[in-house]
Amino acid sequence: MSAPFPADFLWGAATAAYQIEGGWDEDGKGPSTWDTFSHTPGKVAGGDTGDVACDHYHRWRDDIALMRDLGLRSYRFSVSWPRVLPAGVGAVNEPGLDFYDRLVDGLLAADIVPALTLFHWDLPQALQDRGGWGARETIDAFVAYADVVSRRLGDRVPMWITHNEPSVVAVDGHVVGEHAPGLRDRALGLQVAHNLLVSHGLAVPVIRSHAPGADVGITINVWPQKAATDAPEDVAAAERQYAGEAGWYLDPLYGRGYPADIWAIYEERGVAPAVLPGDLAAIATPTDFLGLNYYSRSTVRADPSEEPFGAAGVDEPGEYTDVGWLVVPDGLHDLLTRVWHDHGPAAIYVTENGAAFPDEVARDGAIHDDRRLAYLRGHFLAARRAMDDGVPLRGYFVWSLLDNFEWAEGYDKRFGIVRVDFDTLERTVKDSGHWLRDVIATGEVQ
Ligand code: FCB
Repeated sequence: MSAPFPADFLWGAATAAYQIEGGWDEDGKGPSTWDTFSHTPGKVAGGDTGDVACDHYHRWRDDIALMRDLGLRSYRFSVSWPRVLPAGVGAVNEPGLDFYDRLVDGLLAADIVPALTLFHWDLPQALQDRGGWGARETIDAFVAYADVVSRRLGDRVPMWITHNEPSVVAVDGHVVGEHAPGLRDRALGLQVAHNLLVSHGLAVPVIRSHAPGADVGITINVWPQKAATDAPEDVAAAERQYAGEAGWYLDPLYGRGYPADIWAIYEERGVAPAVLPGDLAAIATPTDFLGLNYYSRSTVRADPSEEPFGAAGVDEPGEYTDVGWLVVPDGLHDLLTRVWHDHGPAAIYVTENGAAFPDEVARDGAIHDDRRLAYLRGHFLAARRAMDDGVPLRGYFVWSLLDNFEWAEGYDKRFGIVRVDFDTLERTVKDSGHWLRDVIATGEVQ
């Protein structure tokens, strides 16, 4: 039995605009890269789109009531940039900004702390048409967007996240091409990653100027890397993979610049990003917290033929979720303690953690999602152990409040602690959601 979580621990659930809102072209919203991508045949499983999603754009009041029933202390959501600025820059779409204004007021009235992410992947298509995140002008556009949103909501939102998982935007969107905008160019992907980080750093003081006293940070996704054997070449391969994936973001954010060995790999291949004077200082702008998204861990062995880090994935026995991710609760403990040790962030939040499983609706309408519940329990306990070891973990957001549009996987992969029937859009709290309510109420992980 571990110690209870602190009474002020910020328990919450997370979502993202494109995954839940729907209303894709309503009230003056402009198209995003994800609208374009999902409307392109063959890009998303089942031809699914976010056109309607969970219809949160219309059902947000009910969704806040649901959060209150669950006892959530905080709600992490993202703002759709093209809902606020349809062309990415320039004229503000007031009805779009009003939507978030009402949402924030509704959350505060329900005693739920709003945790706002500015960019969770839905770039205005108008900006993509001018080069997207590969272009420096998108950095300026993001800072202007941060200014618009924080000017309006800075008096009421105490927690701001600039970007969600920049590496997924860079790699899945621009190298692998399985996410919007669907490009395949490693040099571009690295420039995108760099521009995202610069835009983060430049936005931080702007947000602070409108939200004095608020906490501002960024969310990074990290998969710990385990060496398949103790052989030195496997251990080195695992470290390279970690440095290339996690260190590439964390090192510059915490003032160390890009990891030299990884930079050398990219330079040799002619794909290292263009870094302008002042960029690294901007990226290293101090923040109030680090958001970490954790889902799983990888195991790798040395394989020089594997680009670019010479590390090949190894399948491990164990339990896998519906998106093929191995369940490794200890990995969260390892991650939290390592990041804290390596970079010393003032505070850490788990901004996403959760699991997709194929739920079944029982005859009585209940959803006995035992595997998701067990997944969360294991990870909560791992997080608690990390806190016992001194990690300044201040809160934990379950992914996700609702079953939703799981990007290229469409609606088939269900991560919610609340089920959404995508025919009727009806919401039903799953067993894991009922259980989470008890954890929050008691601070005890039963
Ligand atoms: C993360 C994303 C989130 C969700 C989960 C499953 O990479 O940030 O939107 O799709 O994975």
